[in-house]
Amino acid sequence: MTKLMSALVAAHTHSQPQIKQIPRPELKPNEVLVAVAAASINPVDQKYRLLHYSMKLTTVYPLTLGNDFSGTIVARGAQALDFKVGDQVYGRVNHDRTGTFAEYLAIDQTAIAKVPTNLSLTAAAAVPLVGLTAYQALMEILALQAGQKIFINAGSGGVGSMAIQLAHAQGAEVATTVSERNRQLVADLGADHISDYHQVDFSTILHDYDAVFDTHGGADTQKALSILRPGGKLVSIANLPTAEFARERHLGKIRELGFAMASSQLTKIAQQQQVSYQFLLMHASGQQLNQLTNLIEHQQLRPIIDRTYPFAEIKQALDYAEQGHVTGKVVVTMK
Ligand SMILES: NC(=O)c1ccc[n+]([C@@H]2O[C@H](COP(=O)([O-])OP(=O)(O)OC[C@H]3O[C@@H](n4cnc5c(N)ncnc54)[C@H](OP(=O)(O)O)[C@@H]3O)[C@@H](O)[C@H]2O)c1
Repeated sequence: MTKLMSALVAAHTHSQPQIKQIPRPELKPNEVLVAVAAASINPVDQKYRLLHYSMKLTTVYPLTLGNDFSGTIVARGAQALDFKVGDQVYGRVNHDRTGTFAEYLAIDQTAIAKVPTNLSLTAAAAVPLVGLTAYQALMEILALQAGQKIFINAGSGGVGSMAIQLAHAQGAEVATTVSERNRQLVADLGADHISDYHQVDFSTILHDYDAVFDTHGGADTQKALSILRPGGKLVSIANLPTAEFARERHLGKIRELGFAMASSQLTKIAQQQQVSYQFLLMHASGQQLNQLTNLIEHQQLRPIIDRTYPFAEIKQALDYAEQGHVTGKVVVTMK
């Protein structure tokens, strides 16, 4: 008889997700089965339909939601030999294989890492998606160097709070925007220049920046292009993808043209100002998570947790996060 588990499931494209009993996932040879201890809420948990459509991902309904997690390995496939049963691990699932809002999760062993020894499983669940996003923006795309000046907007958000710490650990000079109530928090995380976005337009006070990590999008993106020095780079996770992004991901001519048109204003301004505009869609990586584990264990990085909710209250957790004013992360605990 198939064993069942609780999970947050969207029955079809337009349905509201509900907690349901569904079969436990089957293991592939290179996967481990994890008893999920905790999972964090990310904006993509609400925007998954848009993501799946724009990135041509196959969505199979019923769809279990949730993108990152921490937990304990309870079984492993024949080829998943890098970990053993009983290991405490964390990770971010691939975009087309969501499902961390569940009691059990099957995941490729290349997407996970052991949880830092100095974090609880609840705290560890707040790291993977936002930590990897910040890591990929700063290290892979911006190639941030010690001594460079970087602007990271929305420094109190899940991604922003990780990015400030990574940039600081890299030896960069960090500017950020927050509400007044979070000024001390981001100073403690390593921000050197802090402005209250309700009071000050950052583009009137910041100049000659080497890099921008745009975690907020909207009008901020265009303004942030104007604070870069010639040759400076902006990477956004919250504005529009470019034609180049569509080409790299083999999304086809129609999306390439659509993204080119949608981002044309930003790419034109970037060109005029001799700076670059790029869009990042983060990806799962156990190897990069190991780098984050190392930084956490050396006290250079820590997750900021705003609230935790039990799984039975996951809809309240999603509603709270959707308001857009979370400081750090919201985590849902399974037990
Ligand atoms: N492309 C990718 O791979 C990728 C990956 C991760 C995230 N994302 C996207 O990146 C964005 C950020 O994600 P997140 O998880 O960091 O979001 P989040 O934690 O939900 O962001 C909330 C934070 O943003 C702050 N904020 C809101 N408006 C602001 C403004 N105008 N200026 C400065 N701060 C402001 C809020 O501070 P207050 O409470 O003070 O307003 C709050 O602390 C989302 O759009 C998400 O979908 C994309």
